[in-house]
Amino acid sequence: MRLLWILGFTVAIASADDLPRQALEILSTNCIGCHNGELKIAQLDLTTREGMLKGGERGEALSPGDPLKSRLYRAAAHLDQPSMPPGKKLQDWQVEVIKRLSSGWIFQGNYTWSKTLGDYDGEDTALTQSFRTLRNLSLDKKRLSYDRLHVFRSNGIWELPFGPGKLIGNNAHRVVGKIIGGWQTGSIFNAFSGAPVNFTAVNAFNTVSGATPVAVGSVPTGAVQRVGNGVVYFSGYQHVVDPCVAQITTLQNLQSRSTLRAIADASGKLLLVNGQPGQLGMQQNMLRGPGTFRLDVNLIKNISVRERYKIQIRADAINLLNKTQWGNPVTNINSATFGRITTATGNRTITFNARIDF
Ligand code: HEC
Repeated sequence: MRLLWILGFTVAIASADDLPRQALEILSTNCIGCHNGELKIAQLDLTTREGMLKGGERGEALSPGDPLKSRLYRAAAHLDQPSMPPGKKLQDWQVEVIKRLSSGWIFQGNYTWSKTLGDYDGEDTALTQSFRTLRNLSLDKKRLSYDRLHVFRSNGIWELPFGPGKLIGNNAHRVVGKIIGGWQTGSIFNAFSGAPVNFTAVNAFNTVSGATPVAVGSVPTGAVQRVGNGVVYFSGYQHVVDPCVAQITTLQNLQSRSTLRAIADASGKLLLVNGQPGQLGMQQNMLRGPGTFRLDVNLIKNISVRERYKIQIRADAINLLNKTQWGNPVTNINSATFGRITTATGNRTITFNARIDF
């Protein structure tokens, strides 16, 4: 692939970016050597969240909802004795990460704006076969297939603040505590622009790969639209016989055998036609297909029964908002289904699950 340029920048929405991995790394390099399941110095096991909640000799190490009370944070920030790790202090940012870990919610998100231009998509050995002409490779300059103008991704986990060790109901009756505690919800939300698409056509004399139509009027722009008998992306256009068909001889019914079509606007003015000898057609990947918008959410209830058993009941909703993820439209101007979207994914599914660990 000859990549011409990629331009982009990313903004991390929350400074809690990458928190779980970061927190895990900080704990495992600085704390877990002593506070693990086997060694458990001061009765403290920092390898699991349960272990943190349970705490050590002095009591719980985490106070979800109130990081300032969390022993884990106070020890790492040298606010209380014993200050940890023994004999040294973590860097300020590491202490900050531990503080966030203590608060019971984690959110990370990022937004990227980018544009990726190149003249060949992929890295296979067929490099030379896919150019429209080997005499001028740069005629294939286009947005590459993985170019996405906007990408927004986020995910979060939130332990609901009810029950033992939490803001509300900390001192509730044991049974009530079991019912209202241990709830956690999480979400993944992604939204991005569609993939680049291009109109395709044929070039009657010179069958090059990736042939595109010649734009003789304004280029149609797309948007998903439901119509009586389906879904269209390019609407208000007419499918007409390509004007070049008129030049084909009528002898032996040759002309009527041509299936070449052109796109015209509502008033019949031609917009896209098939290329004639010597014409290359418009640039590839000029348009964007439909974007993606998806929210996945889960709700988890953890119940621990004595020391040994852990029960987890969870509901996972994939595509909670039931937003259809439309496939790319048919962009071949010679196809009878030009402009239609014929594929889609993204049914909402909700799965319920129960698990017992022992
Ligand atoms: C070299 C071993 C060692 C490492 C590494 C270490 N600790 Fe400790 N930790 C101890 C010892 C020993 C105690 C008991 C000290 C005492 O009771 O005076 C302790 C006690 C604690 C306590 C109090 C537990 C209780 O309830 O009594 C907390 C909280 C704690 N450590 C957190 C951490 C954190 C957070 C880290 C990493 C940043 C860490 N420790 C790294 C050895 C270690």
